[in-house]
Amino acid sequence: MIIYKSEEEIRVMRAANKIVAEVLTELKSLIMPGVTTNQLDSFAERMAKEKGAKPAFKGYRGYPASLCTSINEEIVHGIPSDRHLQDGDIISLDFGVILDGYYGDAAVTYPVGNIEPQAEKIIKVVEESLYKGLEQVKEGNRISDISAAVQEYVEANGFSVIRNFVGHGIGFSLHEEPQIPNFGTPGHGPKIKSGMALAIEPMIAAGDWNVDILADDWTAVTRDGSLSAHYEHTVAVTKRGMEILSLNKKKSELAQIEEKKHA
Ligand code: MF3
Ligand code: CO
Repeated sequence: MIIYKSEEEIRVMRAANKIVAEVLTELKSLIMPGVTTNQLDSFAERMAKEKGAKPAFKGYRGYPASLCTSINEEIVHGIPSDRHLQDGDIISLDFGVILDGYYGDAAVTYPVGNIEPQAEKIIKVVEESLYKGLEQVKEGNRISDISAAVQEYVEANGFSVIRNFVGHGIGFSLHEEPQIPNFGTPGHGPKIKSGMALAIEPMIAAGDWNVDILADDWTAVTRDGSLSAHYEHTVAVTKRGMEILSLNKKKSELAQIEEKKHA
């Protein structure tokens, strides 16, 4: 069942997602060779709490940390540890909070120091593919219009889409209906309607899309060891159109996003 949100509920989700976005932005300045993923996790947890929110992932189905830190061939759900970031790594950070009963959820992929052109490219393509998907979020379209737009863009750029994990409705729970795959043909699935809140999250790989789960039961890696990247935004559909809730950007950056959307 899809749970539609009122304007009041979307207001709370806007506040929750703003905290997520602020934490992910702050984390960017901490990403450098030598930093451990545990340090990133502690920072994220502390900053969310200072802002009055509760980290959403800790304890979720037994997940042991507040932040997911997925390095290089790790796709999602990497568990923070004493591992040190190294020059040339890329790291995906996925973070969520609960504020006044409502969830926020977003993810980014950042470079560590100087990275290879292929790594630069996969980060750029996954972020742009998210915006291709977001462009399809309008009343009257269907959920798989998002999926198809993401897949088309990712594959046109020579990468593959991970199929084992999907985006999702979000609000009272971290994961609500509908599921939002990042692949498929357009014109299927639920109609997009005002009041929907969706977490759209392309995960892509430089090689093929087969996934393995490590012995920690969480970390998803590409089976072929190829690089992977992940971006996620929580958005709301209102009578005014699609609104990205998990954005923490200055006006100038918003203009760039508009450009990307229309590119
Ligand atoms: N963004 C991820 C998701 O939506 C976060 C879940 S990680 C978990 O599924 F640890 F909470 F499971
Ligand atoms: Co999510």
